[in-house]
Amino acid sequence: MNLILSSGIRRVINADRPAMENFLVAHWGSAEIVTRGKMHHAGKLPGFICMHNHAIVGLITYRILNDSCEIITLNSLIRRCGIGSALMDAVKQEAYRKGCRRLWLITTNDNTPAIRFYQKWGMHITDIYPDAMVYSRKLKPSIPRTGCDGIPIRDEIEMEIGLDATNPASSGNDALGYPPD
Ligand SMILES: CC(C)(COP(=O)(O)OP(=O)(O)OC[C@H]1O[C@@H](n2cnc3c(N)ncnc32)[C@H](O)[C@@H]1OP(=O)(O)O)[C@@H](O)C(=O)NCCC(=O)NCCS
Repeated sequence: MNLILSSGIRRVINADRPAMENFLVAHWGSAEIVTRGKMHHAGKLPGFICMHNHAIVGLITYRILNDSCEIITLNSLIRRCGIGSALMDAVKQEAYRKGCRRLWLITTNDNTPAIRFYQKWGMHITDIYPDAMVYSRKLKPSIPRTGCDGIPIRDEIEMEIGLDATNPASSGNDALGYPPD
């Protein structure tokens, strides 16, 4: 990864919240994100951020419930420089450190670039929820009808990676050097 960019990755702090909210609105239509029929206010969630020239160029948000960590949003504005992977690594390490056994997320059927990215990063497709977006649009009517490459946005795709001691990349050894919050 580009060292200048990697040095810009850190935990989200409260002072980031207004810019984070604007970033989420710009990229997801609003800071409210629906997954599995639940609305999440991503602007209030914990996350990691990548800053470059005082602007957000990468953001990941997540929530931890029991022993599962769900990634709610991920965006990288400077593609193919390793920002997306580094943000995923940061959350994976954090989830492991907090005792999670599973890191998971929901994406949509149209988002083939993201499905490719997540699989290459190590995730598996574990479930498909046909027509789940019908219910999501009841909670967030602004969700577009079509997405990547003009594909109708219809289904939720669940992806996950297990976090266990046999996986060195999730060993929780603070290799990435993020101090505990
Ligand atoms: C999906 C997404 C987060 C990936 O972010 P990214 O910063 O481009 O991801 P990375 O740079 O870590 O990895 C992407 C590719 O770049 C490659 N790469 C990383 N560093 C590189 C470098 N220095 N030089 C060349 N290639 C590099 C990676 O190997 C990877 O290639 P591969 O796909 O062939 O394996 C980004 O495309 C995005 O924001 N998409 C829109 C939002 C979205 O759909 N989010 C997911 C919602 S569920």
